[in-house]
Amino acid sequence: MSDVSVNIGGIRMKTPVMVASGTFGYGPEYADLVDLSGLGAIVVKGICVEPTLGNMTPRTAETRSGMLNAIGLPNPGFEGFVEKHMPFLRQYDVPVIVNVWGRTLEEYADIAEKFDSVDGVAGLEVNVSCPNIKEGSGLFGTDLNMFRQAIAGMRERTRLPLIPKLAPNVSDIKSFARTAEDCGADAISLINSYPAMAIDINTRRPKLANVTGGLSGPAIHPIAVKLVWEASSAVNIPVIGMGGIMTWEDAVEFIIAGATAVAVGTANFVNPLTAIEVAGGIREFLDRNGMASVSELTGTLET
Ligand SMILES: Cc1cc2nc3c(=O)[nH]c(=O)nc-3n(C[C@H](O)[C@H](O)[C@H](O)COP(=O)(O)O)c2cc1C
Repeated sequence: MSDVSVNIGGIRMKTPVMVASGTFGYGPEYADLVDLSGLGAIVVKGICVEPTLGNMTPRTAETRSGMLNAIGLPNPGFEGFVEKHMPFLRQYDVPVIVNVWGRTLEEYADIAEKFDSVDGVAGLEVNVSCPNIKEGSGLFGTDLNMFRQAIAGMRERTRLPLIPKLAPNVSDIKSFARTAEDCGADAISLINSYPAMAIDINTRRPKLANVTGGLSGPAIHPIAVKLVWEASSAVNIPVIGMGGIMTWEDAVEFIIAGATAVAVGTANFVNPLTAIEVAGGIREFLDRNGMASVSELTGTLET
């Protein structure tokens, strides 16, 4: 049988399929439905230094082939997360990647340092690309200079693998990918949800209290495949592809485009077993094509 294990900047994963931040809670929410140890990695909902409430409701709206969200990154803060959720997560044989964010450059560097000494954390995914936050996290992903300072500042303060998560709404994704690599990132992930909005024509009000939000799901898959292809051509560090994966075929597209691993997000709300099923589909595809390992497929796009 083909080998589907991968190594993302030192994080060893049994399968190349992880679950995307914000769509899988902190793990317990899905533990009765999914064998967490069968996932490539769990990426938890974004954590910052202090507890945060998030945005007003409504925070989600369904759209054609996707969903809009403006959750606003509610979370229990560093201490709350470590006390409440890490003991549970440590029970499973699965890498835990903590998605982190901040409002300022200092907060990014601080959260990196705080997690450095937390047992059971495999790596940090850095959210610099949340479309629903008006400070730091919402801006640093589209400003190359701020992005560089955020990642370089974190690199100085932690030895954990750093995975900056890139924003899709930039004019040149390659420059962000290269900057991440230059600043010492161990991998990059992309894409975050795409800035978007929807209007209720009867009330003439936005469907989200935050007015705008982030679009995710199948609607953004082709956008994400293009950006993963471009970003992976610009760097030597591994790329984690995400955006609209519903089936194993969607994931294989990312891998052919250049992704070493992929993440399943919105699909978890439809079928919590998607990440497990996608991993099975990738393995069968490799078997059928006589490939010994998933790395033989990565970046094999012919143009
Ligand atoms: C409800 C919801 C909450 C999210 N929360 C986060 C978050 O806390 N941090 C983050 O980096 N991305 C967050 N995301 C973005 C996803 O991790 C993912 O990048 C995006 O949804 C694209 O993948 P998908 O189309 O498979 O959902 C969130 C997405 C959704 C739908």
